[in-house]
Amino acid sequence: MRLDKLLSNLGFGSRKEVKQLLKSGSVKVNDTVVKDAKMHVDPVNEIVTLNGERIEYREFVYLMMNKPPGVLSATEDTRDETVIDLLQIEDQVYNPFPVGRLDKDTEGLLVITNDGQLSHRLLSPKKHVPKTYFAVIEGEVTERDIDAFKKGVTLEDGYLTKPGELKILKSGITSDIELTITEGKFHQVKRMFEAVGKRVVYLKRLSMGPLLLDETLELGEYRELTDEEVQMLKGYQAK
Ligand code: URA
Repeated sequence: MRLDKLLSNLGFGSRKEVKQLLKSGSVKVNDTVVKDAKMHVDPVNEIVTLNGERIEYREFVYLMMNKPPGVLSATEDTRDETVIDLLQIEDQVYNPFPVGRLDKDTEGLLVITNDGQLSHRLLSPKKHVPKTYFAVIEGEVTERDIDAFKKGVTLEDGYLTKPGELKILKSGITSDIELTITEGKFHQVKRMFEAVGKRVVYLKRLSMGPLLLDETLELGEYRELTDEEVQMLKGYQAK
């Protein structure tokens, strides 16, 4: 990859600005000052430094965020803050995007990556990747709802959902539940409860396939996936 392209991709300025940077002699490749913007470097095996600090280059970035409410699962928006706005610049330079959408008021596990292939496979309806949500429901959730979800429920637009696995954690005036579904229709959890006459008042995603939300992450915090988690996700979608 051309040196100016590498530096520019990593957020060190436009190609023109990077050219100036190179002219100043602050960039070294394998300990030799390089001023030629067109020079080709292997960013993985060669050591590129800027003012003595090594520049880390990776093709892909894989992040897990505990999405806070009030923030959009999108890359940009004219009005609202997006999950990408919450990332450090060092992560934003990889042009990552959220894998699927959580509603603005939904919290919890969101994978953010620039690996389009992984994203596609995790979201493909053919792969049936299970997603588990914790929710607080207005009203008493009962065994009848468990049975209804097991068969699939008909949404207001006539769509019959795939079976969902509903667990009641607490039942009363409000109920705490966990629901696992293998689809990702717009507002699916909320609409499935509407189909049985109930309303979701709080929603949080706990898992996606084999990946569990790291509960040590505060709302709005994120971390890189471990190599093991990345491998697990990639292996999973191959099934
Ligand atoms: N189902 C919903 O209704 N909302 C979400 O954000 C995710 C699943």
